Amino acid sequence: MVHHAGATYTSRPPAILSRQGPVGRILAIANQKGGVGKTTTAVNVAASLAVAEQRTLLIDADPQGNATSGCGITPDQFTAGTYDVLLGEATIDHALVRHVHFRHLDVLPTTPDLAGAEVELVDDPERGTRMREALAGMRDRYDYILIDCPPSLGLITLNMLVAADAILIPLQCEYYALEGLTQLLSTVQRVQDTLNPDLTVHGVLLTMYDARLNLSRQVATDAREHFGDRVLQTVIPRNIRLAEAPSFGKPIVVYDVASVGAQAYMAVARELMDRDQPPTDTTPEAPSSP
Ligand SMILES: Nc1ncnc2c1ncn2[C@@H]1O[C@H](COP(=O)(O)OP(=O)(O)O)[C@@H](O)[C@H]1O
Ligand SMILES: [Mg+2]
Repeated sequence: MVHHAGATYTSRPPAILSRQGPVGRILAIANQKGGVGKTTTAVNVAASLAVAEQRTLLIDADPQGNATSGCGITPDQFTAGTYDVLLGEATIDHALVRHVHFRHLDVLPTTPDLAGAEVELVDDPERGTRMREALAGMRDRYDYILIDCPPSLGLITLNMLVAADAILIPLQCEYYALEGLTQLLSTVQRVQDTLNPDLTVHGVLLTMYDARLNLSRQVATDAREHFGDRVLQTVIPRNIRLAEAPSFGKPIVVYDVASVGAQAYMAVARELMDRDQPPTDTTPEAPSSP
């Protein structure tokens, strides 16, 4: 029996479908489980969006800094990062690393210091809204802001969910993949009930899928049963090139654009962009009446 919070989830109206256009969409990529493909998704969806000429900001909110190093950013390239921004000691503008591999990709990098924020924010009356404050004013400069969250549901993740328009949940096609989602979705619910009523669940992305395994297929079936069309159509296959790319500091579209992993993440970017289009967008613009 798979535990899930489907009832509370499906009872929410699909507010996301009524949103106008993609401008400044802030997506938190979160799952408190480690190793499910959050960072791989954040880096590679961000890069794919940038390739599609979407102005994209990638925020590394995991003290492990895997998104930072996975983009090839080294500590000598920045003097402030997510920690300083969260603590109000630097603006995002000041801390950004610009034009990372692509003209349209900026990255807010992190150092391991960020782990300290978890403790230092505890007594701060503004502890939940720090990131939202920091991001105010950045919205209209980007089409997408993607946040790579840490593998926990602490204050850092809370800040990111409060700042976000939506959450994208990578789900590894593995044993117990859905088990942890109850806790994650109740956190989402709590954020919706308190600091960010507009937060939506954008979707669930199946990662590390192996079509040869019954288990992978079973997880995919279960996920679609519980989340319906909130599960992205694109499935990320297990692909060694995706695992290799970070050690070269390159997103997959730079490391090996022909790989199935690159193709899959570009398809995810397209799916996100398609979902964000208002329904009228496919028809030519009507001439404005005098
Ligand atoms: N589709 C994939 N195919 C093969 N390896 C992957 C894939 N996605 C992620 N990995 C690898 O699995 C590990 C965990 O992925 P990661 O994105 O770091 O997860 P998280 O950020 O959730 O901890 C990393 O070593 C990564 O390179
Ligand atoms: Mg990670």
